[in-house]
Amino acid sequence: MKILNIVGARPTFMKVAPLHHALERAGHESLILHTGQHYDPQMSKVFFDDLGMPKPDVYLGVGSGSHAVQTAEVMRGFEPALLETKPDLVVVVGDVNSTVACSLVAIKLGFPVAHIEAGLRSFDRRMPEEINRLVTDAIADYLFVTEPSGLVNLAHEGVPTERVFMVGNLMIDSLVGHLEQARRLPIRREMGLADGRYAVATLHRPSNVDDPVAFGKLVDLLVGIAAEVPVVFPIHPRSRKQAEAFGLLDRLEASDIRLTGPLGYLEFLNLLDGSGLVVTDSGGIQEETTYLGVPCLTLRENTERPVTVEIGTNRLFGNDTAAAAQAAHDILRGEAKPGRIPDGWDGHAAERIVAILDQLLNRPADRG
Ligand code: UD1
Repeated sequence: MKILNIVGARPTFMKVAPLHHALERAGHESLILHTGQHYDPQMSKVFFDDLGMPKPDVYLGVGSGSHAVQTAEVMRGFEPALLETKPDLVVVVGDVNSTVACSLVAIKLGFPVAHIEAGLRSFDRRMPEEINRLVTDAIADYLFVTEPSGLVNLAHEGVPTERVFMVGNLMIDSLVGHLEQARRLPIRREMGLADGRYAVATLHRPSNVDDPVAFGKLVDLLVGIAAEVPVVFPIHPRSRKQAEAFGLLDRLEASDIRLTGPLGYLEFLNLLDGSGLVVTDSGGIQEETTYLGVPCLTLRENTERPVTVEIGTNRLFGNDTAAAAQAAHDILRGEAKPGRIPDGWDGHAAERIVAILDQLLNRPADRG
């Protein structure tokens, strides 16, 4: 089989890497198409290096833009590339603009599409990612699910069960496969961080960083935590631009907040693994902290990954930064919520997906 895997933005690389390797091990031709949604070396190339992925077979170089422009540019670039490649299957992952754009193009040209990390729902249509999830799941042929809520949501939306497969979590495959390597890095020692006695923060959602009041409250939260322990804040380029525009950078720099640029996969994993708590609005980091057993404070009203709250170490705070500050304080005194690792988050999701694809593509489902 010839499989075309789509990557584009940071969280897609660690989902495709283990699948690519598993497809190759099973003797399939696995091609990687990079849309170029993320293009800074620290947002893109470093992940190829860290994850042992080959250079992309196709690079579209679309770059940034409004949602409409970025999605449209991916579609324009992808169509001729797809017609030239003629794969047996297109694999899309997650919920970024590249995911929905490539799904639309492929389905309309009659190429089967598999969506990995299907069925997740925040039920918040103001999130661009929620629209991307709904549209991709509505049109993909095969839907691979990471947690029980995905099965429930897809059933409610009327997706036939024979298209839906619970396979576990590919992002956790990458984590399991790279944890030992990440632990050998000297980054914590070099930054003078004691295990369990520092925090890691990431913030980039529009709802948090596009509004000066909301972003200002989050900065106050981080400054408060930094009064107790150092806070490492690898800042996303868009968050840095906003912090500058809102005059917040000085406040961040004045306290024990270690502002770094975006970090590589292994360095970031090393920091997560050793941290005492994490403050985030990322989706993937809610999952990674649940796997690692690190307390996670999520500054969002909702999560499309409810298993991380139900059985993992994650807690949601919406915009209640006072409650988050109290929780951080309690965690640092040793009062953390215990968590368990969800089923199928075991490092073997890629093998399960390849086994299912082997069966499906020898016996294609009725695509109606
Ligand atoms: C995208 C995803 C989001 C994911 C995030 C991880 C969508 C809708 N959003 O958000 O789900 O959590 O990636 O990072 O697909 N920029 C750079 N260099 C880059 C890439 C972006 O400077 O390499 C800056 C640009 O100013 C750009 C802005 O970041 O306009 C936003 O980039 P974009 O790809 O539109 O969305 P993200 O916020 O990164």
